[in-house]
Amino acid sequence: MNKPYAESCVQNQAPILSAIRPLLRQQQAVLEIGSGTGQHAVHFAAAMPHLAWYTSDQAAYHAGIQCWLEDAQLANVHGPLTLDVLQPDWPQLAVDAIFTANTFHIMSMPMVAACIAGAGALLPLGGRLLVYGPFNYAGQYTSASNAQFDQWLSAQHPERAIRDLEAVDQLAQQAGMILEQDQTMPANNRLLCWRKS
Ligand SMILES: C[S@@+](CC[C@H](N)C(=O)[O-])C[C@H]1O[C@@H](n2cnc3c(N)ncnc32)[C@H](O)[C@@H]1O
Repeated sequence: MNKPYAESCVQNQAPILSAIRPLLRQQQAVLEIGSGTGQHAVHFAAAMPHLAWYTSDQAAYHAGIQCWLEDAQLANVHGPLTLDVLQPDWPQLAVDAIFTANTFHIMSMPMVAACIAGAGALLPLGGRLLVYGPFNYAGQYTSASNAQFDQWLSAQHPERAIRDLEAVDQLAQQAGMILEQDQTMPANNRLLCWRKS
């Protein structure tokens, strides 16, 4: 099998790394939800060798992730683990951070809610949930290109959409997490960080 490749990962991995590195400096183990191709995992785990980085996704993605992991031969990247956020059997890992990129607009809203509730349940006090992707504020798009992207998403699947930051933050608060950082990222994306408190 050829390694799956997403050009978007090549474009966004350096800015995401700059944003998450300070937030993960004191953390020890990260669960990545929706690892996709596996490119992000390899890039981030190589750059932050102090972290144990656990990849996960639905089973259909595992072979591709495995290709990237085998090529990279990094001691600190693990998996892929099977994790569908709607299923109750989340891996019971001792992680103090959870990272997910470009997933909340692909997941349905019940999946987003399950993802946040699951993250809140798995993280210890002080643990961090880091979410990268596009978000709306007070129901408004942050750019014309995000509005177009949202139209494209709903044409792909009616339950796909750019999420409102306020709705996602409410779910995070219900899961015991406080929004610590909301950082502007290139191409009208955000890097959100919640802390379990
Ligand atoms: C657009 S891809 C993003 C992949 C990668 N994180 C990236 O940034 O390139 C969306 C990812 O969300 C994952 N996903 C969608 N629904 C999911 C669910 N119910 N549970 C776990 N992951 C899910 C998909 O399997 C896929 O890997």
